[in-house]
Amino acid sequence: MTNNHPHIPLENLVSLSADAAEPLYQQLVQQLRLLIVTGRVLPSSRLPSSRQLAVDMGVSRTTCTSAYQQLLAEGLLISRQGAGIFVNTGLPAALQQGKTKPLLIGGGLATTQPTSNTRVGFSSGPDARSFPFPLWARCLAKAWRCPEPSLLQDVHLGGYENLRRSLSHYLYMTRGVYCSPSQIVITAGQRDSLSLISKALMQSGDRVYMENPGYPLQRQVIHSLGLTPRWLEVDQEGAQLPANNAPQTKLAIISPSRQYPLGIAMSGPRKLAWLNHAQNQNCWLLEDDYDSEFTYERHKTDALMSLDQNQKVILIGSFSKLMFQGFRLGYLVLPEPLIDAVLGAQEELGGMASLHIQPALSLLLTDRSFNPHLGRMRRLYRHRRDVLCGLINQHLSQWLYVTSPDSGMHLVAFCHQSPDGHTVDDQAIVVDLKHHGVTTFALSKHYADHGPSGFCLGFSGCDDEQLTHNVIVLKQILLATGYGTAPTQSVETGSRELSV
Ligand SMILES: Cc1ncc(COP(=O)(O)O)c(C=O)c1O
Repeated sequence: MTNNHPHIPLENLVSLSADAAEPLYQQLVQQLRLLIVTGRVLPSSRLPSSRQLAVDMGVSRTTCTSAYQQLLAEGLLISRQGAGIFVNTGLPAALQQGKTKPLLIGGGLATTQPTSNTRVGFSSGPDARSFPFPLWARCLAKAWRCPEPSLLQDVHLGGYENLRRSLSHYLYMTRGVYCSPSQIVITAGQRDSLSLISKALMQSGDRVYMENPGYPLQRQVIHSLGLTPRWLEVDQEGAQLPANNAPQTKLAIISPSRQYPLGIAMSGPRKLAWLNHAQNQNCWLLEDDYDSEFTYERHKTDALMSLDQNQKVILIGSFSKLMFQGFRLGYLVLPEPLIDAVLGAQEELGGMASLHIQPALSLLLTDRSFNPHLGRMRRLYRHRRDVLCGLINQHLSQWLYVTSPDSGMHLVAFCHQSPDGHTVDDQAIVVDLKHHGVTTFALSKHYADHGPSGFCLGFSGCDDEQLTHNVIVLKQILLATGYGTAPTQSVETGSRELSV
């Protein structure tokens, strides 16, 4: 390390504003810290001297020396006599493993692209690396080496017959739902399923009961279909029923197995109350069964549809959580009286579900190694849940508290409130995180109006290193808000604040 070692052009990476609330030196500290912990500036990179930086940034030298001193004290920088200031090579492993593409000298922040690893963010998708690709390739080859003529010619309204048959068996085994293949309609995922139900059952302007909080995409689709949502509050037993004097609707969309996003399993009495409501009010219940394969400490409960004696429950399912996120196949399981109407809607709207993967999926679902694969994924996701909960309690307990979910692929971390009721702006943090290559969802976005501040953090699609990286980036962004409160609510396990 000598004086001739070129330094990082920080003026391309840092932007300071004299109008901001924080002093300039603090802005500089926050931005440099983020560059280092996200790996954009690598360990052993040389920084400009404080004199040079002051000239490059058009700020006073004191601003630059104060910022450097703070980062030296934090151990992110080291000073070498006569050689200059460098990013510490002895950073904790988690920081060195930052997944953002390192900055090349001469390049600017705007030109750096996140690597594919970074784009994983807090993913609640399946773990892509564990997917049984050789088995999937064999299923595709088997289905298509010599395809049966009907695959090339027929429309296959409702979906490919063999897949519907395999799925009816799978649903019986995993969800306790007893249905015939003719009750199943293969769709292109949630949006397509909702369009079909809307076309078959609803008129423009009709009201639909939906959970609040709920799945934002579902809300968007309901609006775009010209339907009017009415909100159902959610408590510890799941979605509440509409009040007796509230207007009744033809359709209610609920997620009894695992309320989205809060993860609550609906209680038995509440399920029965919903089934009674459906019968008495002549209301269809659309059961969103989106990630129920993955239960950990909780005993798996059967789908609400398996309890329905009156043919009022429609099951809406997806392969996005079992296969991979871009798979784009889902399904509806229909009560007998609805089959014709939904098939009619599919005929009119055109089948959106790609036919060519359906035969391969049918073979995969019935392959004897698919169940053990699901078991492995369940163990992997449980481990990742534990890792994420541990990291949150270790690094983020100053801002967030979390209860470890007993199922599913994401958890909800709630922001603490200060005694005067203030809290972190979760939506602004999510935007900041995205700028640093980490995607996640703000809890408040899941509410129709104002919701509590927090984060829906997926864990299933990220390995331990990615989770660590994401948590450290989130910590740096939370630190940069200058907002921090002593916890007012307890975390589930003891917390120990580590400094990075
Ligand atoms: C609450 C919820 N419902 C349904 C789905 C499945 O949607 P799709 O089949 O369109 O991927 C998801 C996927 O993330 C989800 O989070």
